[in-house]
Formats: sequence, structure tokens, C-alpha cells
Amino acid sequence: MTRDFLLLWPHLKRYRWRYGLGALCLAGAVASRIAIPYFLGESIDTLRAGAERETELGDSGLGAQSIKSLVLWGAGSIVVAAAIGALIRTASRILILGTSRRVVSDVRRDLFDHLLRLSPSFYIENTTGELMSRCVNDVRNVQGLMGPVFMYLAETAVVYLFCLTVMASKSPDLTLICVLPIPLFVISSRFLAGRIQRGSRRAQAKLAEVSAKTDESISGHTVVQALGIEALDAERFDKRAEEYRELNLEVTRARGVLSPLMGGLAALCLLLVLAVGGPRVMRGELSLGDFISILFYLQMLAAPTGVMGFVISSLQRGRAALRRLCEVFDADLTMLDPAGPGPAPDKGGGLSVRDLSITLGGSERRLSDGEGTTQERLPERLVLEGIDFEVQPGKTLGIVGLTGSGKTTLLRVLARELEVDAGSVFLGGRDVTELRLDDVRSRVGYVPQETFLFSKSLAENVSLGRIEATREEILRAAEDSRLSEDLDQLPDGLETMLGERGVNLSGGQRQRTALARVLLLDPELLLLDDTLSAVDAHTAEEIMERLRPLMAGRTTVIVSHHLAHLSAADEIIVLEDGRIGERGSHEQLLAQSGFYKGLWERQEMRERLEREVESFEGDVS
Ligand SMILES: Nc1ncnc2c1ncn2[C@@H]1O[C@H](COP(=O)(O)OP(=O)(O)OP(=O)(O)O)[C@@H](O)[C@H]1O
Ligand SMILES: [Mg+2]
Repeated sequence: MTRDFLLLWPHLKRYRWRYGLGALCLAGAVASRIAIPYFLGESIDTLRAGAERETELGDSGLGAQSIKSLVLWGAGSIVVAAAIGALIRTASRILILGTSRRVVSDVRRDLFDHLLRLSPSFYIENTTGELMSRCVNDVRNVQGLMGPVFMYLAETAVVYLFCLTVMASKSPDLTLICVLPIPLFVISSRFLAGRIQRGSRRAQAKLAEVSAKTDESISGHTVVQALGIEALDAERFDKRAEEYRELNLEVTRARGVLSPLMGGLAALCLLLVLAVGGPRVMRGELSLGDFISILFYLQMLAAPTGVMGFVISSLQRGRAALRRLCEVFDADLTMLDPAGPGPAPDKGGGLSVRDLSITLGGSERRLSDGEGTTQERLPERLVLEGIDFEVQPGKTLGIVGLTGSGKTTLLRVLARELEVDAGSVFLGGRDVTELRLDDVRSRVGYVPQETFLFSKSLAENVSLGRIEATREEILRAAEDSRLSEDLDQLPDGLETMLGERGVNLSGGQRQRTALARVLLLDPELLLLDDTLSAVDAHTAEEIMERLRPLMAGRTTVIVSHHLAHLSAADEIIVLEDGRIGERGSHEQLLAQSGFYKGLWERQEMRERLEREVESFEGDVS
């Protein structure tokens, strides 16, 4: 039993009664089927004995009557056995196939739960389409394994056991002849099974690539259309689809050989039994009834042997799928709670960062160019180095820096999205690596640079982190983020349904929705990553006005390219290529004549010019 199958063990254990009962019903159904050839053989021998006696003694009338009733009894037993068999067989199918659906639903739920807790690097290494394929196609193949494959395997085992036992009781040497081709069967099926498993694994990986390509092209359809590269993109898709078809054909070929091979082996057994058993009946060494029932048993063995081709290929496909699921279950979780977490920090604590360095990248990524798949290691980069700062409770830290200087990375660290070394980030005086993740995250409100909205109503998007929020609270958060200004432009106000990722909102509306979502959480530590970049200058100023009293009571870290939004901060740091270049209050930084002062003067000049142009246009009109 390999690691792949162990994944299913807890589920098998959980549903052991259902599977056990299903297997028992299956055995009952097989037993009742076994009884049919038995009764048939008995009836034939009774008939034959009666017929012989009639020839010897002449018809006495009574003998014929008792023979008739014996045969009727045999026929009746056959009908009853068949009816009982059909009923128990239905019950076994319901039990086993129904339970396989439960198992798969559990595996799917576990997989989804696990996916939500995986590290950001996992999502860099695997594309959405690839993961969707694992959740849908691979899970479906596992269901085949836990349902039909389990059922047919159990049925085959029971049929073989019962049939061979009854056959051996009737004629041990004929039974031995029947099992002679089994080693041949095992060797050939092992060889073909290996081919099927390798082929299935490659085909499933290719299907994941096709899914990934579909996802990418649909998500990026506007770019594809705008650049007019529809034909090129379709060609790229076709290439993958063709490769998928070829790989599937390979598997089908191997499966195609397997099924007739099984059928051929069953026919070979029949031939051997006829060749050896026929003359024995003629010589009177074997009764006709026993011989016919052995032929019937052989026929019963032929059916599951023929299905073995399907069972082996489904087993291998399921195994390949399990292996792919194991890869996801084995991936690192984003972060785990420490083994012995410390007590939650006191409310309203400040933030302290000491000599923080962060390296990103270095993960393996699967790249597919239609020719094949290659692994590529992404370059490693020291994104933050030796960062030190302290934000007292209720105070504000401003961060500015050129694009790519590490601002977002720093905020992601503070939001506990990225792991840090012990002793570098402290919340309320406590090292965050010693705190439970929930204790940190419940205190932090992070508005990321790129917002993600769900296909729900606007109100539901705002109350995502606090579904119990009242209408008034949602409206207040919308007021504070100035989202309320836009509500009458939207068809159903707060009840407007958003398209995928909020496509029916403007960039600024999306940002303000994300801001309202976090304000509703009333966090102790507020992290704003260039939150107002897509909002016009006038609205941004209004929002900042409303945020100031809200920020006054809580520790805030605010990243912005617009220095006017930072000027009131208690301390401002300038990030330069991952290090702190300048630091101080707005006035201190202006006095330093560095990057900050230069940027401030340029932004001041631009605003002055804009104001002059506005007043000039006003004068002209
Ligand atoms: N997952 C990652 N793996 C490797 N490098 C990364 C990763 N994420 C970001 N980087 C790199 O880290 C650097 C800092 O990125 P970051 O997003 O923190 O910049 P930023 O200051 O927020 O920029 P912007 O002003 O454009 O938002 C960039 O050079 C970026 O290429
Ligand atoms: Mg950024």
C-alpha cells in the first residue's frame, strides 16, 4: 500500500460500516448466483437418473410424478435465488456507490480547505487552471476508484473464491485446469497496467494544462482581443488539446488490448475444460450435472475477468489522480500556529520591527510551452533588508518609495501573509511568530494594493469579514470610505450584484469597497497599501479627511505615492531598494533635501499648476 492509497484510509475507516455492509451484500448476491448452477446441476442429474430408471423399470407413474416435483422444486429454487440475488445486489450497489460519493465529497472538501491554507509560493508554482483540474478531474477519478473499482474488485474476489471452491468440490482437477492461465493473466495485466498508469498520469497532467490555458485565455480575453492575437492563442490551445488527445489515445490503446486479452483468457479456460471434461462425462467419470454446473461457473468467472480490463485501467487512473492530489496535500501550508502560542497581546499595542529582512522567490514553477513541461526555478531576491521602525500605539507611520522598493512586501509581512524570522516583528510587545495567527489577524485590517471582490452584492463584499454587521454599520463604513457617494450611480445601490472580481465597478469604487470592508472590522492596526491610487485627487482628499479621526485612535501604516496623504504621519520612512533611505517627520524630511524633498516639490508644483489651469479655465468661461 503506497502513500497514495493511504490518503483514502481515514475515509475508508470512517465509512467502514457502509463499505463492510456493501461487501457483505455483494457476497450474498454472489452466493445466490452461485446457487443457481448448483440447483441446475442437481436438477439435471435428478432428471437423468429418473430417465434411466424409467428405461430400466418402465413408467410406474409415481416415479415420474416425484421426478417432476423434484425438478419443479429445483426450478423454483433457481427463481427464488435469482430474485434474492437481484435484491441484495441492488442494495450492495447503493451502499458502495453511494458511499463512494460521500468519500469523494469529503476528499473534495478537505482539498478545498487545504488549498485555502497553502502558502503564497504554492500559488506561484501552480496555476489556477491546473488546480481546478485537480479539484474536478482528479477527484472524479478518485470517485471511480472508491465506487465502481472497489465494487468490481470485491465482487471478482468473492466470485472467484466461491466459484473455485464449489468447482473444486465437484472436480478438483478440472478446477486446477481453470486456474492454470492465471499467472499469464497477472503478468500481462501488470505490464499493461504500468503503461496505463504512466499514460493516465501524463494525460491528467496535460488535461490540467488545457484547463490552465482555458482559464488564462478566458481571464485575459480582453488582452487577447485588444492585441488581435485570437488565432495565435487558439493555435496554442489546439496544440495542448492535440497532445491531450494523443496521450489519451495511448491509454485507450493499452486498455483496448487489455479487455480482449481478458476475454481471450476466459475463452481459453472454457476450451480446456471442454477438451478435458467432455470425454470424462462420456466415460461416466463425471456426472453431466456437475459438468454443466462447472461450465456455468466458468461462465460466471468470465464476466468479472472481462471487466478486469476496465477495473485495472480505472484503478491506475485513480491511482495517478491520487498521486496528484497527494502533491497538493503535501504542499507547505502558508503558516502554522506556533507549537506553544503565547497569550494574545494587550489591546491597542503598538508595532515594532527590528532588523527585518525578507527574501522572496526561489520556488519551482512548472512552465508549459505546448512542446512539453519544464521546471524553472524563479530567481531569489532580497526584497527587504535591515528594516527597523517603531510605531507607538495610536500613531501613524507613512511609507513612500519608488516602485518595486518593497512597500507591499513590508505590509504583507505586517499582515502575517508572509512568514518572518523570530525576533523581527512585534505586535503589542509580543513577537508575532509566538502568537496564534488568529490573534494577529483579528487585530489587523489590511487593505491590499490590489483588491479582490467576490461575485456577491456590494453589501456582502463590504461585510465579508463580519457577516453579522448591521445595515447601519455597513452604511457607516461606506460613508467613511466615501463609497456612499457612488451608491446612487449603481443600479441597486448597496444591493448591486458584482460581476466576477467586481468587473462592473470602477477601479476607484473597487478600492473604496475594499477600504469599507476593512473599516467595518474596526481593526487596532490599520495597513493601507496605496489604497487611494485609483481615486481622483478630490475624493482622495475627502477620504483622508474622514480617515484622520478614525486613524487617530489606532496604529496605522500607510503607503502612498501621494505625499500629501502622508504629511500628517508621525514618522515617514522612505524605502530605497528594500532599505530605509530616509526617515523622520514631514518637516524633518523636507529639511534633509533628499528623495522625499524632491518628490514633495515636484508634487507641489504639479498641484499648483493644476490649480492655476483650473482658475484660468474658470476665468475664460
Ligand atoms: N513573490 C515574489 N517573488 C520574488 N520577487 C518578488 C515577489 N513579490 C515581489 N517581488 C519583488 O520584490 C520587489 C518589491 O516588490 P513590492 O511589491 O514590495 O514593491 P512595491 O514597493 O510595493 O512596488 P509598487 O510601488 O509598484 O507597489 C520587486 O522587485 C518585486 O519584483
Ligand atoms: Mg506595492
